[in-house]
Amino acid sequence: MSQPSNRVFSGVQPTGNLHLGNYLGAIKRFVSLQESHECIYCVVDLHAITVAQDPQELATNTREVASAFIAAGVNPKEHIIFNQSQVSGHAELAWIFNCVARMGWLNRMTQFKEKAGKNRENASVGLFSYPTLMASDILLYRATHVPVGDDQKQHLELTRDISAKFNNDFGEQIRNLQHGDAYFPMTEPLIEGPATRIMSLRDGSKKMSKSDPSDLSRINLTDDADTIAKKIRKAKSDSDALPETMEDLKTRAEANNLIGIYAALAETTKEDVLKEFGGKEFSVLKPALADLAVEKLSPINNEMKRLLDAPGDVDAILRDGSDRARVIAEETIKEVKDIIGFIS
Ligand code: TRP
Repeated sequence: MSQPSNRVFSGVQPTGNLHLGNYLGAIKRFVSLQESHECIYCVVDLHAITVAQDPQELATNTREVASAFIAAGVNPKEHIIFNQSQVSGHAELAWIFNCVARMGWLNRMTQFKEKAGKNRENASVGLFSYPTLMASDILLYRATHVPVGDDQKQHLELTRDISAKFNNDFGEQIRNLQHGDAYFPMTEPLIEGPATRIMSLRDGSKKMSKSDPSDLSRINLTDDADTIAKKIRKAKSDSDALPETMEDLKTRAEANNLIGIYAALAETTKEDVLKEFGGKEFSVLKPALADLAVEKLSPINNEMKRLLDAPGDVDAILRDGSDRARVIAEETIKEVKDIIGFIS
């Protein structure tokens, strides 16, 4: 197989409560990349079970992520939307990468340390080796670009380390089998700019998170218009007027967050938003932001509802996407087996 020159791969975990941070930091980007790249978007259910999941909820959440991709504007016919567990190559290549990656590399992963917390002895082995599965997602399709949030940068670096070590360890065989000097690419991350870090609406110093106990801290993609407006009205603010300069904005976490959300939704810069709202009260910004958020998110919310009412249709889209992903994956697995010396 020849190396594609512009293939995008990305994944989102089906762990519930897709929110504005996921939309602005990832899904919105997925939509625009369709113009320039061949895109493969995956609901990473194998990653989800690194921590315990309720089976019914896992299925519902998987459909919810797929629906969000489609509702936001990913075209599942021209590109691929599928769920990871339907393509066995992900798990197969992950095993091989478990034997390429070093303990020392994985021991440095900050996400594992955060997720495992103090109770590391009781974390699943899967949670520890999570990044090798992520590398396999990407390299199974020999993706050249991966749009991800800031927090996934380290996993992308690990993916490149695995790619380089594999290419090096099996260099002779790779050349003998006419794959050139390198079999796997050095995948580039595409890290989103100002919109990557959407913070909690209740605390501008914490990331917006699906696991925050306060539902008021985030805007879920399943929230209806009234709920969106209410959450923005109740967003934390202070009694000072909004800052007028970018310098001052940096010292005001809550203002910075709301101005950032406004800019991302309006597809403009924070500087431009400050030109309009700098020096004004939060009470002026909030209704304008609520209107904008409803205008941009309601159509997505409505389309998601429509899709989730027809789960059979969503499942059919996932099945079709999986069938097409599998064709690419099987080719990679076959070639990797030849390179390693597995008889097939
Ligand atoms: N780890 C990613 C996250 O939590 C999800 C993910 C899994 C992913 N596999 C991937 C992202 C491959 C990009 C490419 O956000």
